[in-house]
Amino acid sequence: MRDGRYMLSNVVASQIEIHNRYGGVVPEVASRQQLATIIPVIETALEEAACTWADIDAIAATYGPGLAGSLLVGLTVGKALALARNLPFLGVNHLEAHIYANWLRKGQVAQTQSDAESWDYYEGDPIFPLICLVISGAHSELVLVRGHGQYELLGRTRDDAAGEAFDKVARVLGLGYPGGPAIQRAAQQAEQELQQQKKPVALARSAYRLPRAWLRGTYDFSFSGLKTAMLHLAEGATQHQQPIPTTGNTRDKQVSQYTRMGVQAAQKGTTNVGLLAASFQEAVVDVLAVKTRLAAQEYHVKQVVLAGGVAANLSLRTRLEQELLPLRIRLSYPPIEFCTDNAAMIASAAFFHLNQAEVSGLDLDVSPGLSLPFNKK
Ligand code: KG4
Ligand code: ZN
Repeated sequence: MRDGRYMLSNVVASQIEIHNRYGGVVPEVASRQQLATIIPVIETALEEAACTWADIDAIAATYGPGLAGSLLVGLTVGKALALARNLPFLGVNHLEAHIYANWLRKGQVAQTQSDAESWDYYEGDPIFPLICLVISGAHSELVLVRGHGQYELLGRTRDDAAGEAFDKVARVLGLGYPGGPAIQRAAQQAEQELQQQKKPVALARSAYRLPRAWLRGTYDFSFSGLKTAMLHLAEGATQHQQPIPTTGNTRDKQVSQYTRMGVQAAQKGTTNVGLLAASFQEAVVDVLAVKTRLAAQEYHVKQVVLAGGVAANLSLRTRLEQELLPLRIRLSYPPIEFCTDNAAMIASAAFFHLNQAEVSGLDLDVSPGLSLPFNKK
């Protein structure tokens, strides 16, 4: 990474295939696999960037939040390399790094550092103050970012994270791991089927009546009620292979969970699972988009950024863009492959800390429950 924005190489050793076999992440399996791949990954990253150790100024690794065993592998290797190469070391907050994925850019590398006006702002960077919606497998937080490293917590999930809800719902729908992309695909397919029949895609998105926890007057989220509603619906839809009833008679108990639109869509042959996925995704996106827009209005920001794995969701991006357009508030998000976990975002966050003369001691330990470093209000 150069200047915290330009990637010279970014090598990912994905474990998705392994996790898919177990229906999720088994911590011991994950860390053992990391141990096996980390050195070849570092060697490949240097090779692809056409760099030697002499070109490297500093080493960074995340120290939390996350699974202790996995964090331990990366942090220990990072510290060991810094010690062996006599380089400064910096431990990075994984959530902060997700936010800094918005500073990554594809394309031309700045020739020299002096090309830049200053380290903290290059043209095209996100503009402070901004609202960041951090939505990953374990976190859902609305954050006001006033400047580099200045975070104020506006709201957070009171129970499940958005990504966690996607993963759990995908599992019960039999869509596999990771859940987010699988639900997105199933929903897209259901919508495409409706489009082919010249029906509005809204039919799929409102096929099921699902709860939304608005928690008005707060910027908090809650997804557990929605998840539970989905579990009950999915049991009926997948285990018993029950077709959606073909009448719209809502007095019929069997029918009551489907809206008239759901019944119509089902009559056109769209599958239960696709309709469930589309309706679930819409319920999550609805709450995330509206609450984020409200926060952007209240704090008079010019920009909203998305961070974390769920920021890859296309439906969320489109919906939030629509919410913000009339307000002339810009929405930005990292390229899809940098929404989910990656090393480039860690290096980017590290750049901004190192430029403020921050380094970590080699006694830094992992911190599985770490949160963003919030300012006191
Ligand atoms: O940030 P991340 O890679 O890992 C954590 O730090 O947790 O986020 C992973 C989460 C998973 O729950 C995954 O299902 C979700 O991000 N995700 C998505 C999409 N791609 C990944 N959720 C919704 N739509 C997507 N396209
Ligand atoms: Zn992550």
